[in-house]
Amino acid sequence: MPPTASTVSARLLAARLDELGRVTDEPGRLTRTFLSPAMERANALVGRWMREAGLTVREDDTGNLIGRLEPQTPNPRPKTLLLGSHLDTVRNAGRFDGALGVVLPIVALAELKRRGVVLPFAVEVLGFSEEEAVRFTGAYIGSKAYTGRLRAADLKLADARGNILRAVIEAHAGRRFTPPKPAHRTSNLLGYLEVHIEQGPVLEDRNLAVGVVSAIASQTRGRLTFRGQAGHAGTTPMDLRRDALAGAAEFVLAAEAYARRRAPLVATVGTINIPSGAANVIPGETVLSLDVRHPSDAVCRRALTQLIASAQKIARRRNLAVAWQPTMQHHATPCSPALTAQLARSVKAVQGKSLSLVSGAGHDGVVMSALTPIAMLFVRCRDGLSHHPDEYASPKDLAVALEVTVDFLQRLATDCTD
Ligand code: GLV
Ligand code: MN
Ligand code: MN
Repeated sequence: MPPTASTVSARLLAARLDELGRVTDEPGRLTRTFLSPAMERANALVGRWMREAGLTVREDDTGNLIGRLEPQTPNPRPKTLLLGSHLDTVRNAGRFDGALGVVLPIVALAELKRRGVVLPFAVEVLGFSEEEAVRFTGAYIGSKAYTGRLRAADLKLADARGNILRAVIEAHAGRRFTPPKPAHRTSNLLGYLEVHIEQGPVLEDRNLAVGVVSAIASQTRGRLTFRGQAGHAGTTPMDLRRDALAGAAEFVLAAEAYARRRAPLVATVGTINIPSGAANVIPGETVLSLDVRHPSDAVCRRALTQLIASAQKIARRRNLAVAWQPTMQHHATPCSPALTAQLARSVKAVQGKSLSLVSGAGHDGVVMSALTPIAMLFVRCRDGLSHHPDEYASPKDLAVALEVTVDFLQRLATDCTD
């Protein structure tokens, strides 16, 4: 069978994701962090693809890439549909997380043009500059700036080298930075669609290429600092030590056991830092990251309270001090029932069946939901693997996601014209 137009477009999408996946700050592995040189190169590359698809392109002071396509029919009061995701990555990332949701809409718009479909509304494709919280521990810097929700407290965040977020933005923009107002009035928007790999195993288990997201789970992230007494590793007997790392290690296992008993709760210690650590020094201070998620806000909050209490108990028993510093918190975020129903219609039309899933991962959609109704399309990823270089979505599944997005845009165009 000759390839259909969207098979050709899906191949183009896969090729572009490969190309973008080679734009990195670290040779040999994919890492792009907020306003890094690789992020600038990624914006230049994706900006070129946007222009080729007929979009006008700009970058805001926080490094968000924004491509806009004006309505193609006369419309005195055109609304705007937003589509996007993030272009930053975790360290040693896969090439689909975030990038898919930026590159796919560009290819979908070109595909619509090829099919002669005209849109009576404007479209903005958004490549957010920061979602992963790798450089600055607070996530969503890009979507917060776009939605006018970047606060003075966010601008004081420091990266590992002590660079302050405001100064980093000002150096990049070459001018004084004032947190922007929302990019749009809510009344001028049709909604926000984010296409994202599932980052979990459900679609693979159900043998489906795509599914729709009903809600994004509640999430809390912060730093736990255990403090004891640094000392000589050779001369301090074991019973006279106040080892901050040993206390932290006990907490890591306690957190794992706690969450295991309470599925679907998840609790993760993803980083451990021993400032001034050395092989011959008893750790005097250890800083852990803690990330806690659950579909229910109340369960997530209670879990955090109990985990902090457990850290305090461990610290008391070991004669340590412990402090909790929250760095990020978001409530469970429901997707818009109306926009999601519209998306599910497209999924059914293309795939024959639609499945609804809750997202355990955070997404820019969380922040965007404060500005406009959101919908999310999940795409199956091999072995449910994400935040890993082997992250993979097949060209066949990309073709389904692309066709669903094209169908969704077409239906929306029909609704707006009726
Ligand atoms: C974003 O990738 C998250 O941590 O959920
Ligand atoms: Mn991610
Ligand atoms: Mn992501």
